[in-house]
Amino acid sequence: MAKIEIESHLAPRRISAQPHLHQRAAEIQAYGTVNRLLPLELEEPVRLEITSQLNQLLADTMTLRDLYKKSHWQTAGPTFYQLHLLFDKHFDEQAELVDSIAERIQLLGGVSIAMAHDVAETTHIERPPRGREEAPFQISRLLDAHQVIISETRKMAGRATQLGDDGSNDLLISEVLRTNELQVWFLSEHLVDVPLVKAEEPQSERRDF
Ligand SMILES: [Fe+2]
Repeated sequence: MAKIEIESHLAPRRISAQPHLHQRAAEIQAYGTVNRLLPLELEEPVRLEITSQLNQLLADTMTLRDLYKKSHWQTAGPTFYQLHLLFDKHFDEQAELVDSIAERIQLLGGVSIAMAHDVAETTHIERPPRGREEAPFQISRLLDAHQVIISETRKMAGRATQLGDDGSNDLLISEVLRTNELQVWFLSEHLVDVPLVKAEEPQSERRDF
């Protein structure tokens, strides 16, 4: 007669080197919620509002980060080398911001947006074409994306202070805003139309600015 083993929580666990593959389970926390009780001295409604806003900023920052990599790969022309390096440097800095924002959302008890399809549905940044664009157009597109993020960041920072969330305000101002402002400067100087080799001779006293 075959021996039938009855599995129960009382049965001893059999030791095995076999990994448990293809597992599926329900979520342990839904997107858009926060843990109710955390010893942060920030009430649940405050953390709910801040994490929701930070998720918008996260989706936009992930989009800008990826726009930099697209530009890094696809740029062309006599400034290729310089732009190729600059775009990758900015990509790295945006990737650091992504991590800081995502981890801020988690520590506030929320759930960070993470996957590309969710980010694509959420971002406020205009979708670029799959193909290549001229360098000035790439730079202009990146500047527009920065403007979206800077505008959101300023509003969110003010709201965080209003709600007593100084930690989020600090992240938004010291890291997100300052990094984006600096990158805007480095980009926008590339769109100034000045002669490369020979300075223009003055025509008259009149200046066009
Ligand atoms: Fe690369």
